[in-house]
Amino acid sequence: MNWLSPSILAADFNRLGEQIRIVRDCGAHALHFDVMDGMFVPSISFGMPVLASIRKETDLLMDVHLMVREPIRYVDDFVKSGADLITVHYEACVNVMQTILAVREAGVKVGLSIRPETPVSVLRPFLDKVDLILIMSVDPGFGGQKLMEGTYDKLRELRAMMADTLGAAAGEGVPRVEVDGGINLDNVADILAAGADTIVAGSAVFRGDIADNTKKFLEILARDAAE
Ligand code: DX5
Ligand code: ZN
Repeated sequence: MNWLSPSILAADFNRLGEQIRIVRDCGAHALHFDVMDGMFVPSISFGMPVLASIRKETDLLMDVHLMVREPIRYVDDFVKSGADLITVHYEACVNVMQTILAVREAGVKVGLSIRPETPVSVLRPFLDKVDLILIMSVDPGFGGQKLMEGTYDKLRELRAMMADTLGAAAGEGVPRVEVDGGINLDNVADILAAGADTIVAGSAVFRGDIADNTKKFLEILARDAAE
């Protein structure tokens, strides 16, 4: 089943609760929570207090994307604040396996992400250890960027590697494949066709008519799943 996980990085923080209710009421499957530390990525966004406030108001799956150096340090804090899934960056961990295990032991789902310049091949040892793989389609750190064209081949390569390693390209025991950055109503169908099943969209959801944007994304995701 395809999921839409709107990134609140692009929301209006003066009206965050209202805007989260809109995407939830339209049927979004999760909320993407972009944590940036100004070290692993050049920008700084938000952290545990904001997540804890959102958690009080919504039952949406909290899809926390840690763009943070040495993320193992923050796993417990984000779980306490309400994360349901914590995705860490391959490039940010001193010990990737140890970090994945720490997220598991904390009792939430775990994702592993790679930057655009990192080859898919580095993921092979972790495919049967995680619940989600996040393929960045922009250089992490800012919303509103253009999707990088190499993303399509990376998705196809990942699905082939999953089939080879896990014995299946999709389905039971296979991690979700999430894509994040520059996704809009014009390219989302191609991203799904290339192998994604979980879509992060910030600007394309929260700029303009949020309800209409969300519904249009969900229509495309449902149509793709039906094909
Ligand atoms: C970028 C973030 C993305 C970003 C997506 O580092 O990880 O989630 O918010 O924003 P859009 O969809 O506006 O490119
Ligand atoms: Zn993100």
